[in-house]
Amino acid sequence: MVTMRPVKISGLSAFVPPHVLTNEDIEKLVDTSNDWILQRTGIRERHIVDPGMATSDIALPAARAAMEEAGITPDDIGFIVVGTTTPDTIFPSTACVLQAKIGASNAWGFDLGAACSGFTYALTVGWQMVASGAAEHALVVGADVMSSIIDYTDRSTCVLFGDGAGAVVLSVAGPDEARLIDFAHEIDGHGGPALCMPAGGSRRPASHETIDQRMHFVKQEGATVFKFAVRKSGEIAVRLLSKHGLTGADLSLYVSHQANRRIIEATAERIGLAPEKVVINLERYGNTTAGTIPLALADARADGRLKKGDLVLLTSVGAGFTVGSILLRWSL
Ligand code: ACO
Repeated sequence: MVTMRPVKISGLSAFVPPHVLTNEDIEKLVDTSNDWILQRTGIRERHIVDPGMATSDIALPAARAAMEEAGITPDDIGFIVVGTTTPDTIFPSTACVLQAKIGASNAWGFDLGAACSGFTYALTVGWQMVASGAAEHALVVGADVMSSIIDYTDRSTCVLFGDGAGAVVLSVAGPDEARLIDFAHEIDGHGGPALCMPAGGSRRPASHETIDQRMHFVKQEGATVFKFAVRKSGEIAVRLLSKHGLTGADLSLYVSHQANRRIIEATAERIGLAPEKVVINLERYGNTTAGTIPLALADARADGRLKKGDLVLLTSVGAGFTVGSILLRWSL
């Protein structure tokens, strides 16, 4: 039997491209207003890559900085997992592209598709690799260039998303060190049609028809996704906390996937969390899909809100549907 080892986050970094797309900029593209976007979502602006930039390009600076904080060289990494919905290409994987760019000559790895749960699921997989002894250090990335699949003529989706990346390094924790504690995840494939990109896969390969019908962009039934996200974020949070005999009052910080301020606040209320324990930074980035949670962790740390030893709950809901939650003690 494999003896599982305790695992900690030993490095964290996030990156967004410099170009900012504000609500006022979007007002010039579609029939919307800054007031509507702010009230319905909480988003004020988002960062967008310049043409020609791909997911591995924004993941690279985050990955390098996370490795530097962990005090490791590229050769120390045994495993790379990239949570992304917007890989540089369908194949080869962005994990392979990143491995070559970093020069991680001893690593294997792959991309993981879980949409907005990309980071929570990738963190879980990297954690198991280090825990089992399959790798000494794992590089876990959540990164998306959502602007590559957003229809900037569709007001119901183009206001929501931005581009961003985050990375953590996972390493073996010492006996008294803070560590990753537990996770609870679920998928519900019945939710697929409510949030998807209809073409570009094997079901509907690219054709003149799919392009003319704008099927290579995100399509969403906003209200269906919203209701599912509110219900499931709360349920999964309660399930994981209860399993450990905890309530919201025991948490130092709650870091949710950042899709909509109203979803995050409803979940916080459900688990009885005081507003000061809730991280919300979507105002500046929008929904960066797999990038949101590492971006929020990095911001919370920079603001002095996330400190060593803190008990932290992460949750995510995304296309699929995918639902995720992780309980951890912050180790940096
Ligand atoms: N500007 C102005 N009006 C708009 C806009 C816009 N950008 N977008 C939609 N509207 C209009 C609609 O056309 C509709 O008008 P109608 O009543 O005349 O038909 C009206 O606003 C209300 O539309 P709803 O979709 O019901 O608005 P809702 O309050 O549900 O908010 C939103 C829409 C913000 C998309 C919300 O449903 C939401 O956040 N859903 C969650 C989805 C999400 O964030 N998904 C991302 C990934 S998955 C995840 O992370 C959970």
